[in-house]
Amino acid sequence: MVLRVKKSGSAETPLDLALSRRTSKRKSNLAYWVGRAWAYWRYARHVEPQWLEARQLQLVLANWPKALHGLRIVHLSDFHLSRRVPLSLVVEAVELANCYQPHIVALTGDFVHSGSKYVEQLADTLARLRAQIGIAAVLGNHDFAVRIRLGWSRPSLSILVESALRQRGVRVLRNQAWPIEKNGTLLYVVGVDDLWSGLCDPQAAFGNVPNDAPCLLLAHHPQTIEQLKGRRAVLTLSGHTHGGQVNWPGLGPVFLSGKMRRWASGLYSHRNGLLYVNRGIGYGLRLRYGVRPEVAVFTLLSRESTL
Ligand SMILES: [Fe+2]
Repeated sequence: MVLRVKKSGSAETPLDLALSRRTSKRKSNLAYWVGRAWAYWRYARHVEPQWLEARQLQLVLANWPKALHGLRIVHLSDFHLSRRVPLSLVVEAVELANCYQPHIVALTGDFVHSGSKYVEQLADTLARLRAQIGIAAVLGNHDFAVRIRLGWSRPSLSILVESALRQRGVRVLRNQAWPIEKNGTLLYVVGVDDLWSGLCDPQAAFGNVPNDAPCLLLAHHPQTIEQLKGRRAVLTLSGHTHGGQVNWPGLGPVFLSGKMRRWASGLYSHRNGLLYVNRGIGYGLRLRYGVRPEVAVFTLLSRESTL
């Protein structure tokens, strides 16, 4: 697998660059340090949470059919629409996604933050997404109202989210596979329920998918890739972590546990295939530093066609 990243995020924010130009004389001044702390706080609260980034990745894949060469997928995750996350941010993400004229749009859960108040509003906004083949989605832990690993799920909320999306033409994959025919070749988009919902069932989802078929997996929680029970996908798209929301230079994603730091954000290689963890659009707590909200754009290339 060869990776080409056209544009990527950097842990160094514009604020870091601006503040690094200060002289050592100023650094001995208390007012400088108070001002610096204030600038970081303002940036993390008011600039980065609404500063969307488009991240383009070209993946050259072995065993990827020539017929699917150039398949373009836009991946959006973790909208968390609520009183804290403005609808304008989701609208901007949808408009940015449409600019890339994707074949497939993949949505990997946490559509709402809590409760049902914003379900219809979000579904109406996502209905503006355009894809040449279609839009696929899976539900996240917040869509089941599960906030902690062992929490209780609320099926009524997940049914509401699923139904609102389906009514707008989004294919919600609940442990299901969606076969897509392109240039005479079948591609399977497989989707599983969130790991914390207690309903995640990879065996059911992969049930009718031939072992050697090109396959993409949508799974909200990145650790799902460790639990595929013998199945694998060329590329798994996940979210959930929001990149940790704060990626402090030298310390990394400080709010993530050791296990989750393993899958904080970006592209990973696993025995069950490649995994991409999206930093998401929204947030629970309005605070982001070094992990801008993102729209990820993948172009999947067949190695055979690039030789
Ligand atoms: Fe989330």
